[in-house]
Amino acid sequence: MVERIHYSTREQREKWIQEADYNLFNLRSDQVFIDLLTDSGTGAMSEQQWAALMAGDESYAGSSSFHKLQGTVADIFGLQFLLPVHQGRAAENALFSVLVKPGDIIPANSHFDTTRAHIEYRKAAAVDCPEDVALNTLVDEPLKGNINLSVLRKILEEHHEKVPFILLTLTCNVTGGQPISMENITAVKQIATDYGKPLVIDSARFAENAWFIQQREHGFRQRSIHEITRQIFLMADAMLMSAKKDGLVNIGGFMATRHQDWFDAATEHVILFEGFRTYGGLAGRDLNALAEGLTEVVCAEYLGSRIGQTQRFGQILIDAGIPIQRPVGGHAVLVNAGSFLPAVPQEEYVAQTLALELYVEAGVRGVEIGTLLNGRDPSTGRERFAEVEFLRFAIPRRVYSNEQMEYVARALINLYFGCPGIVHCGRKANLETFYCAFESQRAEVG
Ligand SMILES: Cc1ncc(COP(=O)(O)O)c(C=O)c1O
Repeated sequence: MVERIHYSTREQREKWIQEADYNLFNLRSDQVFIDLLTDSGTGAMSEQQWAALMAGDESYAGSSSFHKLQGTVADIFGLQFLLPVHQGRAAENALFSVLVKPGDIIPANSHFDTTRAHIEYRKAAAVDCPEDVALNTLVDEPLKGNINLSVLRKILEEHHEKVPFILLTLTCNVTGGQPISMENITAVKQIATDYGKPLVIDSARFAENAWFIQQREHGFRQRSIHEITRQIFLMADAMLMSAKKDGLVNIGGFMATRHQDWFDAATEHVILFEGFRTYGGLAGRDLNALAEGLTEVVCAEYLGSRIGQTQRFGQILIDAGIPIQRPVGGHAVLVNAGSFLPAVPQEEYVAQTLALELYVEAGVRGVEIGTLLNGRDPSTGRERFAEVEFLRFAIPRRVYSNEQMEYVARALINLYFGCPGIVHCGRKANLETFYCAFESQRAEVG
């Protein structure tokens, strides 16, 4: 599918962002030139997926599309009980309706916002246990998404009876798509077994994580993505999946497990809130496109090109001296806005300030991952200041060209070298030349 991209002038953008109350989420998509707000559901489907979509079976119960997806999930992950749902947070809601009760504690390397919200909604606590280096943007550790094993052990030691399961998020979204090593996952499984706890995997970017293991962890170079994925999920009791990421579809998700009792209990919830257990709020054609997407995503060539684009974009920024989270992750590049704009105080939402400046400069939309996102403490009304104020650029799958990503990098570099209050030496790129290059490629975005 080919989509138009939309040009605008600085004057237009200044007006639009003011009308949007300086909230990038309030902009219309045609007011954005390059949209890096999220990689969730924003990718382009392949011709095989569009073909699969046409062949969807729309039967209410037991459609062949469901059975196809079930076979694919069993093949890739080895989990036989499948509940499709409309997206990742619905899978969280279904599984947590079975597993989480008030007073529980769920330790994880990190919880995505919706995962945390679904846990807290049930009056339980979501406790992040990242490695110490996770938010140190300067430490270039190859597998920086690991859970801190000693913190995990301490929680289990002190609150054993309150922990219903251990959660691992692959890759770690909040730190920029940092992968977890097989060694860490295996150690977590051992701890889980020692304490008799199940392991649940938030699998939104499982394939990107498997690719990093293949490329960066000793002993996995000769193993296929499929084999690595199987090895990971052999250790899982259940998986939560937002298929809008590594399912390569625009909508969809699922929960899969090896436990029939969890499946039966979650099915009751899904029937109430999503739909019958063989479609879960999705059309048969969506299930078909997802089954095809899952088979495409475990391809090393695809992953090499997808993650290669993110790495290339990040490297341009690193070479220019822009402060970003190191190493570059799988789906996103995180700019350390506090270091980028040291003169802007944290109370003035430094990453949001940078996001707005970049939009006005170049029509690029990123997203603040910092104090604004954290929200205020509901009991005190005080700010919850972020440890690092990040501006995130999440890259949609199979959408933008490297040249378009270079445009984004050049725009950021322009800001870095042109911002008052920052003394940097360097040159400003002429963004107009990039606009001109795009004139001849108007239909680049898919
Ligand atoms: C790691 C992770 N888990 C869960 C979700 C929630 O998925 P969805 O947006 O499909 O509800 C997301 C979405 O970005 C995510 O990144």
